Amino acid sequence: MSTERTACGAPRAADAGSEVTVFGWVDRRRDHGNLIFLDLRDHSGILQVVISPQTAPAAHAAAHGVRLEYVLRVRGKLQPRTAQNVNTRIDTGEVELHAEECTVLSVAATPPFPVNEETDVEEGLRLRHRYLDLRRPRLQRNLRRRATFIAKLRTVMTEMGFTEIETPMMIRATPEGARDYLVPSRLQHGSFYALPQSPQLYKQLCMVAGLDRYFQVARCMRDEDLRADRQPEFTQLDIEMSFVDEEDVFAVLERAISTAWTASGFRGAITTPFPRLTWHEAMDRYGVDKPDVRFAMELCDLTETVRGCGFRVFNDAVSSGGVVKGITVTGGADLTRSDIEGRLTDVVRTFKARGLAYLWRRETGWVGGIAKFFSAAELEAIGEATGASVGDAVLMVADRPSVVAAALGALRNHVARERSLAEPDEMAMVWVTEFPMFERDEETGEVTPLHHPFTMVHSEDVDLLESEPLSIRSRAYDIVLNGREIGSGSIRITDPAIQRRVFAAMGIDEDAAQRKFGFLLEAFQYGVPPHGGFAAGVERLVMEGLGEANIRDVIAFPKNQQAQEPMTGAPAMVEEEQLRDLGLSLSLRPVAPAPPRAVPPE
Ligand code: AMO
Repeated sequence: MSTERTACGAPRAADAGSEVTVFGWVDRRRDHGNLIFLDLRDHSGILQVVISPQTAPAAHAAAHGVRLEYVLRVRGKLQPRTAQNVNTRIDTGEVELHAEECTVLSVAATPPFPVNEETDVEEGLRLRHRYLDLRRPRLQRNLRRRATFIAKLRTVMTEMGFTEIETPMMIRATPEGARDYLVPSRLQHGSFYALPQSPQLYKQLCMVAGLDRYFQVARCMRDEDLRADRQPEFTQLDIEMSFVDEEDVFAVLERAISTAWTASGFRGAITTPFPRLTWHEAMDRYGVDKPDVRFAMELCDLTETVRGCGFRVFNDAVSSGGVVKGITVTGGADLTRSDIEGRLTDVVRTFKARGLAYLWRRETGWVGGIAKFFSAAELEAIGEATGASVGDAVLMVADRPSVVAAALGALRNHVARERSLAEPDEMAMVWVTEFPMFERDEETGEVTPLHHPFTMVHSEDVDLLESEPLSIRSRAYDIVLNGREIGSGSIRITDPAIQRRVFAAMGIDEDAAQRKFGFLLEAFQYGVPPHGGFAAGVERLVMEGLGEANIRDVIAFPKNQQAQEPMTGAPAMVEEEQLRDLGLSLSLRPVAPAPPRAVPPE
């Protein structure tokens, strides 16, 4: 076979007259009288091939039985197309290849779905034949752009003096929030490795080892419920740095992400430095810890404005220690009663709010079922506090502060989607800092770290570790992009005494701490530099950069919603002999799958 090869997408008008050999798949086939027209597709694009029985009888005979997705080699001469035949939809549209030789390298069965068009095909079928799905230009582009992005990240990290270090994939199970994937040991029957949920402890040990600036494009495995931006296997740009504080970590991430973003031709522009919000500010103003700051519609506190008003729902909430907050929908006078009482109320109910109160501000004054409960002065004060003008609507929730924040935060995002308030190509990166150190797990009642137990407590709050653990701040930070968490990190605890107190607050006693993390505590006895780091979700960045809504579209071989890989059929039963080697025997009881474990909020 000829080693000379021209990519199908390469030829241009200036190449007319040259002899080329192309290889590719048949994307389309048309017969016009005696002539056979084939669109030949490879990774680079599409080239039209014309095969004439007069000038190339052998090639014509070979092409006669050719069908979609056959693999061909075609040699011939590039010819300019006549002006009316130029195809502006493809890059090679000014030329066509007049075949002299055509060889069928591989025949193809009829594909289970069309490869050459973006049709709505059931995802299960696509994943079962992922190699066909991946032939589509959009997925090809996604994987190539992802590769470019990762390559640029590597370059910029290396330029900044970071060393890429690979940490093990088979590790000791350490609690990190999600469920572990386990690997049984053949040599130590009854013992298991865990696949890493992240390289967290190893990268901290790299700092103890004096490696100073570590990074890794790290594969992580977490057995958790899947969502549009969550897969059981994913990739992080993982970073750890010695002798640093937040500012140093922020500067590295801003440079790495913005440089690789631009170099990969991702959409929108990233401006640095990223703006910052503390977690408290984010919750106050946006109701969520991952605010989409592309649009305003901030939450407005009306608790004092409505205190003592005639509306019982508000009064009861305020007098029992709750709050009343609202958002102003600009132009929201067009929302009907049934819009608000129907779908918008459903949104806040999902977040445990009992209802959604509303007022319209019209030319004639304030209207809405609850307007009658307020005096003119109170309505004036609501107008002032919310900034609502004529033509706007104010949507309000009264409840416990956490319910109000969650309900209005979700409503704000919902309304923004409905009304297309966000500029899709704007990339709004924001640092959210000073996360609370702990939260109470609603199911178990346990105090658990919001980030992870190695996160340093805010220096002003250390004294409250025992008395008010739930009120203390940590030195954890996230990057949020357009309302999606795309990475997290923290400055770490390096003082064993504080680490012990953090474990104690979580109900982990000295013995348990030694059992679970003894190796880390021991390492820290031998001189540990202050350090901190970060992990950015590569797929989530690529999704945003390419404008994809589902993480599966930026992963070559993703899992489906049931964490299965339908093409190879993983996970699967194994041979009895394999189990014997591992000292395992299966006794499968018909148990319901274990419930998803609460995962740290993202
Ligand atoms: P965290 O658990 O917040 O932090 O993860 C960091 C980032 O990884 C991405 N991510 C995921 N992406 C796709 N699918 C998933 N299942 C998934 N889970 C997480 C998110 C997230 O922001 N060891 C710490 C980092 C540190 O402290 O340095 C960690 O892993 O974008």
